[in-house]
Amino acid sequence: MSGSFLEELARRKEIIAAGGGEKRIEKQHQAGKMTARERIAKLLDPDSFVELDAFVRHRCIDFGMEKVEAPGEGVVTGYGTINGRTVFVYAQDFTVIGGSLGEMHARKICKVMDLALKTGVPIIGINDSGGARIQEGVDALSGYGQIFYRNTIASGVIPQISVIMGPCAGGAVYSPALTDFVFMVEGTSYMFITGPQVIKAVTGEDVTPEELGGAMTHNATSGVAHFKARNEEECLEAIRRLLSFLPDNNLQDPPLVETGDDPGRIDASLREIVPPEPNRAYDVRDIITRVVDKGDFLEVQPYYAQNIVIGFARLNGRTVGIVANQPKILAGCLDINASDKAARFIRFCDAFNIPLVNLVDVPGFLPGTAQEYGGIIRHGAKMLYAYSEATVPKLTVILRKSYGGAYLAMCSRDLGADQVFAWPNAEIAVMGPEGAANIIFRKEINDSADPQKTRDEKIAEYRERFANPYVAAGRGYVDDVIDPAETRVRLIAALEMLVSKRETRPAKKHGNIPV
Ligand code: HXC
Repeated sequence: MSGSFLEELARRKEIIAAGGGEKRIEKQHQAGKMTARERIAKLLDPDSFVELDAFVRHRCIDFGMEKVEAPGEGVVTGYGTINGRTVFVYAQDFTVIGGSLGEMHARKICKVMDLALKTGVPIIGINDSGGARIQEGVDALSGYGQIFYRNTIASGVIPQISVIMGPCAGGAVYSPALTDFVFMVEGTSYMFITGPQVIKAVTGEDVTPEELGGAMTHNATSGVAHFKARNEEECLEAIRRLLSFLPDNNLQDPPLVETGDDPGRIDASLREIVPPEPNRAYDVRDIITRVVDKGDFLEVQPYYAQNIVIGFARLNGRTVGIVANQPKILAGCLDINASDKAARFIRFCDAFNIPLVNLVDVPGFLPGTAQEYGGIIRHGAKMLYAYSEATVPKLTVILRKSYGGAYLAMCSRDLGADQVFAWPNAEIAVMGPEGAANIIFRKEINDSADPQKTRDEKIAEYRERFANPYVAAGRGYVDDVIDPAETRVRLIAALEMLVSKRETRPAKKHGNIPV
């Protein structure tokens, strides 16, 4: 082959690799952002990236676009490996027409989405874009539609991860919203349907982009995002860590990892964490980190609905999804946001063959008009639905309180828990002893010469009769009452026993989870 062919190839590749040019790259760096190519290089194992469609060009001839060169069409796409496992990736290039999405840009993204689905491996999308390419009109809108459609088809088949590393506005936000996990970076990433200027014009509200759709807003207030990082490097590292817990697709089990933690490890300090007083708070993460392998717990949505803690960990090297009430926040009550947060996580775990470990210390659903008017009935129902439909191994440990509907909603035996353990101080009842005694002994208390003394006696009587684990264990709702120190050992034994669990559900098109 004559050298000129290779020279031409090299020349073209060089132009594409330069993206929007030095000035725009410089601007990107000054904003604390990497370029699309730098991000991919950092995310993937060194030298593993294989680029596709670098030569794709737009076809727009409106508004002077016929003269606009857009190297790579404003998005870098391809595949590579993370910890040796193949993933597909796309990264919008803000230096090329603001990373805006037109017909061919969307086609590049759809191609890697299709390949990821066909090959059964995760896809990671790095968003940094001014949104629909305005000059392309309906072709750009169609491009988004095709991506949303693929996000939905791939949901529950391959893990889909969205990374927001710049603007992501208007309808563009719905692709991340359809994926499993959304990562954001403090100070440089924004998501909103309508920006601050439109809001000012329509409602008169003054709001900064950061307040409206910055990383903390979506991590703590809206629940749209699952993780936030201080900078892009930290964010890309966090994605690698998340993927280490996940299988490539819904037909595989998560990777078995040699963690070096002893499956027979007893931890006597677990006996001291839960205070004996039913109303004293503690941090349930102190229990999680003592039970799981090497204390390694990847908390998901740590800033949102903090009254429930969710995340990934390993038990004897196997990935588990942890769902735990957090007595430190709202006494661990279930509310609208906690129910949404937990239900989505439970469904992710079930879709990807990740067993669920549920740590229960819940006084009930949060009372109040705000909760009732907000639809706690349909939101809380999501937890019942998600646990009932889940066929992965389900292990429940009742640490202290477990009352009423919340007892059921935290994966009781009746929702299909495969094993239920209770610590000896557990209280399983329709409601707390105080409330129960006030209702069923109201007459005795009111008629008594010393109502306070009678109330205390009746509370004690109720607690002794019902608020312990032995009534539930006596009916078989609880499989065993265990020494807290042995929690890890018992969970691992149960997981190993359930490794071959198979459970089927009636064939249907799909269920209709309350939303
Ligand atoms: C075409 C765009 C563009 C877009 C940015 N650019 N967004 N070109 N279509 N949507 C171009 C700019 O003209 C500019 O070109 C370059 O990208 C960089 O943009 P700047 O404005 O210079 O950057 P910056 O100051 O950082 O501002 C970034 C920005 C702003 C806040 C994102 O560009 C912006 O407001 N863009 C428009 C956002 C928008 O309204 N998009 C449509 C949303 S509706 P030059 O040549 O000067 O470098 C939508 C609907 C989707 O997306 C519906 C799906 C169902």
